[in-house]
Amino acid sequence: MTRFDGKVAVVTGAASGLGEATCARLTEEGAMVVGFDVTGATPVDVTDEAAVSAAMDAVVAAHGRVDVLATFAGVPGGGPVHGLDVDEWSRVIGVNLTGTYLTCKHALRHMIEQRSGSIVTVASVEGIEGTEGGSVYNASKGGVVMLTKNMAIDYGRMGVRVNCVAPGFIDTPMFRSVMGSEAMAQVKDEYREHHKLGRFGLPSEIAAAVAFLASDDASFVTGHTLVVDGGYTSGMRTGLSDLLGLGG
Ligand SMILES: NC(=O)c1ccc[n+]([C@@H]2O[C@H](COP(=O)([O-])OP(=O)(O)OC[C@H]3O[C@@H](n4cnc5c(N)ncnc54)[C@H](O)[C@@H]3O)[C@@H](O)[C@H]2O)c1
Repeated sequence: MTRFDGKVAVVTGAASGLGEATCARLTEEGAMVVGFDVTGATPVDVTDEAAVSAAMDAVVAAHGRVDVLATFAGVPGGGPVHGLDVDEWSRVIGVNLTGTYLTCKHALRHMIEQRSGSIVTVASVEGIEGTEGGSVYNASKGGVVMLTKNMAIDYGRMGVRVNCVAPGFIDTPMFRSVMGSEAMAQVKDEYREHHKLGRFGLPSEIAAAVAFLASDDASFVTGHTLVVDGGYTSGMRTGLSDLLGLGG
């Protein structure tokens, strides 16, 4: 497939996990992909407005335009509110929500001028439903869902579409850092069970959804949050389906 032939894409959080998989998918489909990440040869911190602005301008200077932005840069974090330090609150909001706003802001400068562009932000099922101890992470991802809708309203008439993906739990370095400990083994099993397909997701399954939303195949889709979650948010599974003979 060559849905992105001649297109220039910027992917944040490109050095790992879902961002890395999305870079590979967009490249495979013909895009010229530029990754922004705090790690790597030319680091870009999405919380640093001057750095984001300069990096976005450098992309346009080098490649002439920016057609696609996918915002994967993110960090886990949180804990129950009564014990949550304000510095931790600011750190997570800073990367996940403010970083999304800043990269969108500086891509939009160019997309508005071009009168075209497609942005895919990255939330989470935890931006749609609450989770135990989720607090600031969930708040940051819920903020991304709403920011996406607002940008879709504001920039649709300028030819810019803005959508969001909300992944379920996907096996990446971030996932392993949160779920990897022995103490989390049982919790991890519970989380797996909550995915109605009975498994965690693969980075390539998120990349495929982002590629769809970013591409012209989604030309009439904007302001949408696409859950890619193996049924995590579809509702409760109590085991009644097993009694009904539906056990897999
Ligand atoms: N893995 C999951 O289960 C899951 C589920 C839902 C949503 N998400 C979201 O998807 C995104 C990617 O997650 P992942 O699992 O691939 O994580 P990851 O930790 O594997 O990758 C995140 C990348 O973001 C980069 N990054 C962090 N802070 C940055 C900053 N300030 N500026 C630039 N880059 C920065 C990191 O260096 C890393 O390369 C995150 O926003 C995460 O919240 C992940």
